[in-house]
Amino acid sequence: MTWSNATRVLIHIGDAPPHGRRFYTTKYVYRDNYPDGDPNGLTAENVLKKMQLKNILYYFGKINDSTDVMVNVFREIIGSFPATYSSIFSSITLTTTLRNSESIYSLQRKKLQINPNEPDWTAHPEKTGKLLCYIPPKTLAEVKDKDYFIKSSFTKQDISFKLAPQPFSAGAERYAYFAFDTSPERANKLVVKKYHNIKKGTIEMYLESVEISNVADFLSTKFNIAAERVGVNKKVTFIDVKVLYNGTDNTYYSVEEYINNAEFKKFNVNSGLITEFHSILEAFAHFTYQYTEGYLVVYDLQGADFHNEFLLTDPAIHCIDLEQQT
Ligand SMILES: Nc1ncnc2c1ncn2[C@@H]1O[C@H](COP(=O)(O)OP(=O)(O)O)[C@@H](O)[C@H]1O
Ligand SMILES: [Mg+2]
Repeated sequence: MTWSNATRVLIHIGDAPPHGRRFYTTKYVYRDNYPDGDPNGLTAENVLKKMQLKNILYYFGKINDSTDVMVNVFREIIGSFPATYSSIFSSITLTTTLRNSESIYSLQRKKLQINPNEPDWTAHPEKTGKLLCYIPPKTLAEVKDKDYFIKSSFTKQDISFKLAPQPFSAGAERYAYFAFDTSPERANKLVVKKYHNIKKGTIEMYLESVEISNVADFLSTKFNIAAERVGVNKKVTFIDVKVLYNGTDNTYYSVEEYINNAEFKKFNVNSGLITEFHSILEAFAHFTYQYTEGYLVVYDLQGADFHNEFLLTDPAIHCIDLEQQT
């Protein structure tokens, strides 16, 4: 019971009941040298309750009928056995999701020191670059057209900005840096994202984030209209993502508005696990499937929970067309 891994599954396979009359029918009595129970004082209550307390997922694999009485006694003590396919799956997914930034992804990542504080911008040089984005799709047919973004032209805009030297956070795939748009008409706080894996630092990867954000935004607009019709007024909104071309050192990033005054939360993850349940977000994910007639699902919903809206970023799209899946 001192087992300390986050996911613990005990698979117990047995062909005979334990010591003690209560665990078998009279026909097995003659086989038990300790009919009064375990000679060392171990009781089923003690062991099973401790296991339950430690969230150990227990499964019993039956080989013959001799353990049927035992199984009933165990069930009286702990209810149904907790180790089912879905409980094991959820436990593993939750463990890996909540720990991913420290463990499983760290191997493939170029390690950078995280600094959670926004820099003093006066001490940093101004850079110039361009913001690139697509003309967003306006119909479902455009969303389903796999050449839509390939055919689409970019809009380009000049930008002058400052970029923090160290990231303030990291996800499974990218580092997030504070940036500041120094163009006088905007002057707002931004987040610049770079892939851990330098080979993924090509413009294509960053354009993909823009495509995902455009599709998610299109569907959220449709969802908000449908939700309002049935009296739901809290909106689902996606942050507009653009590609930032840094003309000063000839590199690409993705860039978006910084979510101010709110905790950044993960609401659900790609594998289907819900980490913080909100009926509106699950309804939105379901809506994306219904509205696109089973063509895609938007999931991996994360961002901020404000009073009147969920402001989201970095969603994933699961699409039946593999070329579009991201
Ligand atoms: N717009 C934002 N505002 C504030 N924090 C953000 C924003 N976008 C990302 N972050 C922070 O940066 C982390 C990594 O960003 P994310 O887009 O989730 O990268 P990944 O693609 O690796 O999952 C997030 O978990 C969050 O802490
Ligand atoms: Mg993320």
